[in-house]
Amino acid sequence: MPDQLRDVRALVLGASHSSKSLNNRLAALTARLVEEKGGTADLATVADFDCPFYDADVDSETGPPIGSHRFCERLKAADALLIASPEYNASMPGAIKNLIDWVSRFRPQPFNGKQALLLSASPSMVGGNRGLWALRIPLEHLGMRVYPDMFSLAQAHQAFGADGRLRDATLQDRLARTLGCFLELVEAAKYYPQIKKVWVEFLGERPDDATNRVEESEVEAA
Ligand code: FNR
Repeated sequence: MPDQLRDVRALVLGASHSSKSLNNRLAALTARLVEEKGGTADLATVADFDCPFYDADVDSETGPPIGSHRFCERLKAADALLIASPEYNASMPGAIKNLIDWVSRFRPQPFNGKQALLLSASPSMVGGNRGLWALRIPLEHLGMRVYPDMFSLAQAHQAFGADGRLRDATLQDRLARTLGCFLELVEAAKYYPQIKKVWVEFLGERPDDATNRVEESEVEAA
């Protein structure tokens, strides 16, 4: 596979409201790496999509708030969603869950079928990884293809250099490789979909050369 990707569009979301957020810094670094690999990054934070707490009365009377509409449009324009999220009490912050809940109300439901990569940063020794297992649940429930590997940055308050990259070369390489493998999957899903074949076996029928197996393919045999 060539080093540079065909264009894939990634919405990269920092899921913290803090102006000093470690996760928003990790999101910014990730967006930079997406561009370096030949993709297009759309960098945002949850503050760009602020929504009041989900309320079924508001939903039925006036519909979803403007912040959820904005997120829905940015997600629809993307091939993949990358989220760098803090861990709060071994789970995800309420703001990101609230945004997911509002956006899940749109039809067609915009998370469905999109690729996702989860990242986290924390001053702790496990880097907020438990929060990502919680975040995975609603996203997979909504049909996202959440990449099995995740990237969690431990002791994140000491991890960034002045240039915004990770000081530790091994960790920087791990982030770049995880991201690279994920983006190759996104590229493959976008540009090289599986050859569509239908394979039908007529079980229980008498063996017959004409009907034993039927294979239909959109691709002509060579
Ligand atoms: C935290 N923090 C935290 N960290 C962690 O590794 N595991 C945890 O369960 C929690 N829980 C938690 C709850 C609450 C309410 C707060 C405010 C904080 C610490 C958290 O990881 C740290 O503040 C990060 O820096 C937050 O991410 P941002 O805002 O810097 O991106």
